[in-house]
Amino acid sequence: MALPAAGLQPGAAPGQAQRLRLHVAGKQHAAEGIAAFDLIAGDGGELPAFIAGSHIDIHLPGGLTRQYSLRNNPAERHRYCIGVLREVAGRGGSAHMHDHLKVGDRIETSLPRNAFALEEGAPFSLLLAGGIGITPILSMAHRLSALGRDFAFHYSARSAARMAFRGEMEASAFADKVHFHLDDGPPEQKLNLADLLAHRPVGAHLYACGPGGFLDAVIGAAKVLWPSEAVHREYFANATPTTGDRPFRVTLVGDGRSFDIAPGRSIVEVLRENGIEIQVSCEQGICGTCVTRVVSGVPDHRDLVLTDRQRAAGDRMTPCCSRALTDELVLEL
Ligand code: FES
Repeated sequence: MALPAAGLQPGAAPGQAQRLRLHVAGKQHAAEGIAAFDLIAGDGGELPAFIAGSHIDIHLPGGLTRQYSLRNNPAERHRYCIGVLREVAGRGGSAHMHDHLKVGDRIETSLPRNAFALEEGAPFSLLLAGGIGITPILSMAHRLSALGRDFAFHYSARSAARMAFRGEMEASAFADKVHFHLDDGPPEQKLNLADLLAHRPVGAHLYACGPGGFLDAVIGAAKVLWPSEAVHREYFANATPTTGDRPFRVTLVGDGRSFDIAPGRSIVEVLRENGIEIQVSCEQGICGTCVTRVVSGVPDHRDLVLTDRQRAAGDRMTPCCSRALTDELVLEL
């Protein structure tokens, strides 16, 4: 079903993802190093709907594209709300948004996409957010609250100054479900993952978003009692080592053409050089935009988006970063 989309840019070129032309309607200091932006359609109309856990790509000057999760209530159709952490060691995208993007500016974005979806029918959900990972988790809390589902929400930050959107949560309909944890606070209020994950309510699902160290700790603590299909996580960057590359060949099932992928090159890069575009966004295995069907061969998965079950099935991969364990991969594009 086509969704009414007030900001849709008409006439996207073939192979180019449809873009929205939005306006910055609000910009606030949300916490130390975190700026919040409200984006609306140019004519103030309804935006394409999104589901909790979705993100949008923001297209910045110089060809930079950055992904930001939507933090607002998915029932809202008049705005997309994002939070942007200034990344000191980043490539300039977040710094541009902090320093130059202002109310009234126009900005191009993708349509919302989701690689971090809620199991809305679960009898209980445990939401865990670390730092800027609060954004998709906050949207999930809005949705679960609207559905009347049972859930608990734990939000951890390095200090009170770095904790964003606390007032919004304390004023929300789900304020009684939120627990705040500060790394520099008294020991009794710190997030104790071992205790928290030591039992799993029947049918419960766990959602975690935050920095790599936070997610590794959550996944490590959840391993014993929480089955992998009940653990959902979203990373902000892929730190998977890229060593151990071996050369392999990619063959396209459609026309039978083959391409050699040398160590240090990605499938996406090589195919692009040969005039074959795969739609990409993050190009680091965290968004799921490029997921492609594998007809034969064994992928060497380097992404953070496919589940263990999807990897075990061996029928899909992320060609922006993943490679091959076999000499050849046959892909269907
Ligand atoms: Fe994001 Fe490949 S482009 S996972």
